[in-house]
Amino acid sequence: MKKQTQPTTPKVNLDDLLNIAKRADGVLSGVRSSMLAPELRKRPPLFSANQVGEFCGIDAAGMQYRIRKGELPAASDLEPGKKRKMFTLADTRLWTQKFRKKYFRPEGVSGIVIAAANFKGGVSKTTTAVTLAQGLSLRGHKVLVIDMDPQGSTSNLFGLLNADIDDDQTLLPLCYGSEISVDYAIQQTYWDGIDVIPASLSLYSAEFALPARQKDSASFEFWNVLKYGVDTARQSYDVIIIDTPPALSYLTINALLAADGLIMPIPPSTLDFTSSTQFWNLFNQLANSLVKMQGKTKDFDFVNVLLSRVDSNDTSSTVVREWISAAYGDIVLPVEIPKTSVTSAASAEFGTVYDANVAEINPRTYRRAFDAYERFVELIEGQLQVAWQRQLNELDSESDMGAQ
Ligand SMILES: Nc1ncnc2c1ncn2[C@@H]1O[C@H](COP(=O)(O)OP(=O)(O)OP(=O)(O)O)[C@@H](O)[C@H]1O
Ligand SMILES: [Mg+2]
Repeated sequence: MKKQTQPTTPKVNLDDLLNIAKRADGVLSGVRSSMLAPELRKRPPLFSANQVGEFCGIDAAGMQYRIRKGELPAASDLEPGKKRKMFTLADTRLWTQKFRKKYFRPEGVSGIVIAAANFKGGVSKTTTAVTLAQGLSLRGHKVLVIDMDPQGSTSNLFGLLNADIDDDQTLLPLCYGSEISVDYAIQQTYWDGIDVIPASLSLYSAEFALPARQKDSASFEFWNVLKYGVDTARQSYDVIIIDTPPALSYLTINALLAADGLIMPIPPSTLDFTSSTQFWNLFNQLANSLVKMQGKTKDFDFVNVLLSRVDSNDTSSTVVREWISAAYGDIVLPVEIPKTSVTSAASAEFGTVYDANVAEINPRTYRRAFDAYERFVELIEGQLQVAWQRQLNELDSESDMGAQ
């Protein structure tokens, strides 16, 4: 008879897994308490006079003039123990709202819905969505961020954890049909100018609720629930940014079909590139069965690929960058987001580069990352102008037709 060897470690049973889950929850809530102390709320960043001047496109003398006239708030002592004076986020936005009017949403047109999407996980969809929201709000726009990923990473970046979020505060009631507009779920955030609709794990049940409603009612359009749901929010917000899960889910389909603009972040790695090609094929199949077959059409104001987490030391990424530009041509945005310790460090504190504490970072490293994100935001702001102008032209031609 063969000699039995003794297993060196015991089997893991369901109770063990439950204990692991409990311990992980405990650690997370401890991390959250220390990170968000003392008010259990994230604190918005402060901005230097230079940064405010750059956002507004004016020099120091121009700023001083406005402050002396009492038109706009001055910087103040906001950092204990430090000499330099800083602007709060709310005051920074007062400045940008004064100086950047020409970029704002014209009266009578709707807010633009942008989805950050890619079926691949970890390509920086969430980072892209949240930094875009922060960058646009700093430029004076009013932004709503919708977290459609049950992982809730966007909600985390706004300081909200799964345990803080009731089901009714997510898109779940919209998906179940007890609400027809997303307005019930909008909440303020620590960031002046950005509101959020958070997500928690229970949002997964939308994946059962939406097809079940379709089965009960043939006229129900499971793919258009969000599109109709954001109708009223389009009037109150300049931009609505949706973060999507890394899967072709019912929630993702809703985000894609509600969106006027699509941004697909792709890090220049072989697997990320190959997976991105499948996205477009799947999207076309979907659009065919859900839109074209119904005799309808779907236009986007813009569709862009964003090179994300680009590691300049990685030689293979040069080749993949060439594939990406050959495959996607001029929809690739002319900016690369570098792989940077600033983003990783900030995300360890539930934040992004816009939340980073400038005083604690090497200024050159920070500047490189910050400038890349700012350029990205600027490019998207340019697309917003085009989309709004298009709406104005359509309104004009409708009123011309009415007059005839
Ligand atoms: N430019 C960057 N430099 C360094 N790290 C980055 C950068 N962008 C994102 N990251 C990090 O990469 C990880 C994945 O990013 P993120 O969560 O934004 O991706 P995602 O596509 O939303 O992931 P998921 O598919 O899980 O939703 C995070 O830890 C994030 O902090
Ligand atoms: Mg994500």
